[in-house]
Amino acid sequence: MQTLPGFRDFFPDDCARRNYILDTWRAVARRYGFTEYDGPVVESLALYEKKSGGELVGQLFTVGAVADPGAAKGALRPEMTPTLARMVAARERDFKKPMKWFSVPSCFRHERQQRGRLREFYQLNVDILGEASPAADAELIAVLVDTLRAFALTERDFVVRLSSRTAWQQFFIQNAKRADGAALTAEDEYEFFQIVDKAERSSPEKTDAALAKFGLNAAQVLAFMRSKEPTAELAPILADLAARGLGAFVEVDYAIVRGLAYYTGVVFEVFDRAKTERALAGGGRYDGLLALMSDGKVNMPALGFGMGDVVLANMIADTPAAKAQLEAWLARERSCEVYVVIAKEELRPQALALVQELREAGHRVDFPLTSAKVGKQFQNAENLGARRAVVIGEEWPQMKVKTLATREEVLIARENLVSQLG
Ligand code: HAM
Repeated sequence: MQTLPGFRDFFPDDCARRNYILDTWRAVARRYGFTEYDGPVVESLALYEKKSGGELVGQLFTVGAVADPGAAKGALRPEMTPTLARMVAARERDFKKPMKWFSVPSCFRHERQQRGRLREFYQLNVDILGEASPAADAELIAVLVDTLRAFALTERDFVVRLSSRTAWQQFFIQNAKRADGAALTAEDEYEFFQIVDKAERSSPEKTDAALAKFGLNAAQVLAFMRSKEPTAELAPILADLAARGLGAFVEVDYAIVRGLAYYTGVVFEVFDRAKTERALAGGGRYDGLLALMSDGKVNMPALGFGMGDVVLANMIADTPAAKAQLEAWLARERSCEVYVVIAKEELRPQALALVQELREAGHRVDFPLTSAKVGKQFQNAENLGARRAVVIGEEWPQMKVKTLATREEVLIARENLVSQLG
């Protein structure tokens, strides 16, 4: 039996690679003063239907108990933002502003199978709530950039494409006119954002056809998209990032509008420079979502991003410096540092006492559970990636300590072993 398509087994090596990503995410978020939260894997289906919007609604895995067919439907979380907004709207008063929160949920989307997109993935979420200043946008983009830099990726490997829905909103209000003469609505605006979102990938004819109802055409939209001039909203964010020395990681690019419904102002996505991968991360401001979630009771500016582990893992594998750093981390994380070889089976009790003592001193130690030939034990030590083998045999109460990579050997007395292993 295999997993369903797009779902994942994590064999030990996969698990170690996953933990490298998750540990690094957590370390950088904490370095920036973010604290971790979590929520349920299943939420009400209505939460996503109302708050996520866009393509996501068609990608939900719904959940219902066989024993309770009449109950409200649930859905596996496809993203974290609706959960975060729900949680914060419920207990907003309990927290000092700005709130800097992060989470590392696994998420589920019924996506078409393709490189960089699975149906189950981990997603780092970093959000700032209760701060309207562009300083918060810059702080968020800085933590995003530094998260990727922590994997030894550089400005040659990725770029943050910064844009603004406000800019597109102004473009729409100034230029659009419905063919039927009716006033433009919020739904029209969102439909327009979705056309813009696809314009780079669609043919101009298709975009023309979609825009016709607003009295617009592809050429107008593409010309605005290619103007790289920062708006008044984006300029202070760029200045802040430049002051941090992170200017080279960010470019203004109005092709970015984001698919999700709740974004209001600044939006951004991260791509590999070669543009061979799907988006590595995406986010922006969602200043209206808390009010929407609380029926107007809580009005709080908010912004954040999500970064998945799948494209990131592909990029690490394809970038030599990032790959070397991962391999070094994996080598340090090996399950066994010291292998105790029992060359004389009658010394097993003494070996067990030593194993116990070494483990209590914090070493990662393994040994043969049953009697085995010395050669086989050494082979096992190599297989486990142990750095050293301690041989309990002829020399007892002294022991040969062998460094496996160099085959160097020293003789150490029992009472000195723990301190000498360091
Ligand atoms: P999103 O753009 O839908 O945004 O997803 C963010 C990132 O999650 C993507 O750039 C990608 O790395 C990863 N991702 C999404 N779908 C998949 C998939 N099927 N397989 C693998 N990775 C995937 C959001 O989810 C927003 N809630 C982010 C956010 C947080 N905005 C504000 N706060």
